Amino acid sequence: MRNFAINTAIEAGKILQDYFGRKITVSHKGQIDLVTEVDLLSEKYIKDQIASHYPKHQILAEEGGFTAASSDYRWIVDPLDGTTNYAHGYPIFCVSIALEQAGKLVLGVIYDPTRDELFVGEKGIGATLNNRPIYVSKRPLLKDALLVTGFPYDIKTTKKNNLNYFSRFALTARAVRRSGSAALDLCYTAAGRFDGFWEMHLGTWDAAAGVVIVKEAGGHITRFDGSDFELYPSKTQTMEILATNSLIHQDMIKVLSDDFVLPENSLVV
Ligand code: IPD
Ligand code: CA
Ligand code: CA
Repeated sequence: MRNFAINTAIEAGKILQDYFGRKITVSHKGQIDLVTEVDLLSEKYIKDQIASHYPKHQILAEEGGFTAASSDYRWIVDPLDGTTNYAHGYPIFCVSIALEQAGKLVLGVIYDPTRDELFVGEKGIGATLNNRPIYVSKRPLLKDALLVTGFPYDIKTTKKNNLNYFSRFALTARAVRRSGSAALDLCYTAAGRFDGFWEMHLGTWDAAAGVVIVKEAGGHITRFDGSDFELYPSKTQTMEILATNSLIHQDMIKVLSDDFVLPENSLVV
């Protein structure tokens, strides 16, 4: 199944690469939430592959919802993570495929076709980038950390728009990035390129594979208050993910807490 997931992610990545920069059909799922014909092509390819190799496995895919089946294996698929980037010709996007067995994540495979970078995490085995082991960074201090985040598609209508946390971290960490691909944000955290990542309102498919990769690289993942990360949050409790190199985790929790106050000397007037 590991080899199957790797081959399928690479082939789906080739589809993304083939169509990148070409004129493609783009439609709106929400006010700013896009879907392109390439999201759908990639997803169809991945789902067809799973159905022909593992017809009894369940599939949870972003564009096509859930396909129930008898097996306790479930594939969780984001066929194109970074759709807004992709639709604008900005080359940061990937394919993300995770595997759960009996409700536990066991495998994560993320492929970035632009850089030909393949990230794999397998429970109990470790995480790799192009077959070489990867580990989270060893940077111990938030003030020296490079962080990454993203904003929810309902940013214009929700109060929980992440702008408050973005300003806090911009003033407490070394710098903050917004890449536009949550799956790659998790991979880069696993590989030590970022020291920490936080985001809210993600879908299960955005996070699943990256969570395995970060954990296997030695990282730590929780909700913003340090409680257990939920891949399937309830309707009243939307997803919150805080993924770090472990060392800066508590400091990031402090900044994300309701009673956080910026230190005097970092206030911008
Ligand atoms: C999105 C990206 C983005 C994140 C959004 C996701 P999509 O996924 O991961 O970085 O900020 O919340 O929905 O729509 O490009 O697959
Ligand atoms: Ca996504
Ligand atoms: Ca997607």
